[in-house]
Amino acid sequence: MRRKGVALVTGAGGDIGRAEAVALARHQKMDIAVVYRSNLQDAETTATACRGAGVRAHAFGADLRESAAVQGLVDQVHESMGPISVLVNNAGAMGAAFNSTLVEMEPEIWREMIETHLTSSFLCIKYCAPDMIGAGWGRIVNTSSIHGRTGGRATLGAYGAAKAGIEALTKTAARELGAHGITSNCIAPGFVGTARLKSYMSEERIAQLSQQIPIGRIASPEEVASVVAFLASDEAAYVNGAVVDVNGGRTEYL
Ligand SMILES: NC(=O)c1ccc[n+]([C@@H]2O[C@H](COP(=O)([O-])OP(=O)(O)OC[C@H]3O[C@@H](n4cnc5c(N)ncnc54)[C@H](OP(=O)(O)O)[C@@H]3O)[C@@H](O)[C@H]2O)c1
Repeated sequence: MRRKGVALVTGAGGDIGRAEAVALARHQKMDIAVVYRSNLQDAETTATACRGAGVRAHAFGADLRESAAVQGLVDQVHESMGPISVLVNNAGAMGAAFNSTLVEMEPEIWREMIETHLTSSFLCIKYCAPDMIGAGWGRIVNTSSIHGRTGGRATLGAYGAAKAGIEALTKTAARELGAHGITSNCIAPGFVGTARLKSYMSEERIAQLSQQIPIGRIASPEEVASVVAFLASDEAAYVNGAVVDVNGGRTEYL
């Protein structure tokens, strides 16, 4: 059974990360380390919402592309809040500004996608797992996407490659850490109605895409978060190395 610990949620100032942090606070009664890169105000909003569920929650800033920054973050969380037992890797660059065909893509865009999604997930696992190994219990939940499942559609090559890499990383973590009572799984959402998505996709386009989804609409952040809360629970003890689709039944994206 779970030892008391802290859930570290990256990108937790964004809508999906916030919903995940709040779900872990409400349903798993976990203390929450709210990790952000640049937007302290959004991170504080998340921490306040988590504290409303009666748990401890604090915001921590770090650029997760950098090994020393992640090590410093994990040390700081451990010292100020206690051992980390749940890691939710949710952070990563998003938005139409990163869309480009492979021929036209600037190498900086490729690097930003790979580093903010994939490298950050690796570094967080590397530095958080020792706490979980010490406790003999842990939960790691990574974030892929429908583009990781199907291969990024045209102009999303870097994003799709980063997300497919996260799925492979998840399976290796499951194999290496399973014997320590640590499960590693991955969610693969389809469209989620976040502020970020709505900043570059019109309501008309969202309505059009919704017709291609068997459930007939895009997901809410809370519908993604409830899957993460389950994967982080004791009840999910035998789910390890899985990629869980949260896409309303839409399985291809051309
Ligand atoms: N929205 C969707 O439809 C959808 C679908 C499938 C998968 N996803 C995945 O879900 C996750 C969250 O998406 P979202 O829509 O909630 O996006 P979002 O609002 O843009 O949140 C992403 C967060 O990542 C953080 N971040 C980016 N680069 C970072 C870095 N180098 N170091 C630390 N933090 C960094 C940002 O923090 P700051 O704001 O503080 O800089 C931001 O809060 C992403 O992994 C995304 O790929 C989303």
